[in-house]
Amino acid sequence: MDILRIILVILHFVGLASLLGGFLVQVKAIGQGKGTVVRAMIDGALTQLVTGLLLVATIEIGDLYDVNNWKIAVKLLITVVITVLVFVYRKKVPAPSWALWAIGGLTLANIVVAVAWR
Ligand code: HEM
Repeated sequence: MDILRIILVILHFVGLASLLGGFLVQVKAIGQGKGTVVRAMIDGALTQLVTGLLLVATIEIGDLYDVNNWKIAVKLLITVVITVLVFVYRKKVPAPSWALWAIGGLTLANIVVAVAWR
């Protein structure tokens, strides 16, 4: 079960890189009012949802350690909001700047929650 957890954590980092990287390459365009939701953000948000939920299942079923349920609930809520934003604005050119800043800001917030909340 631990090997599965390790593989899922690695994929969780790939999803994080895609979501945050997608936002970072758009920062200049957002500043010019021309930012868009790029494919990497959509793929990243879905990857985080799927790998995050599978991680929780793996840890619980394998009885690996006690998951902090409040932390997971907060991360899940934040990720659902990110996912809704990327889907709602994926075809809007340009996408509203507030929505793109929210996608980047909420991604950063989830990283802080993930590493600072034990
Ligand atoms: C934008 C979305 C997300 C980001 C940026 C993110 C970020 C991270 C990071 C950086 C770690 C490694 C932390 C460490 O091992 O010290 C992690 C671990 C983990 N994440 Fe996420 N995550 C996201 C979404 C989710 C979701 C939606 C879930 C579950 C519903 C989830 C569940 C987990 C679990 C179970 C771990 C393993 C470590 C632990 O028990 O906390 N994550 N996440």
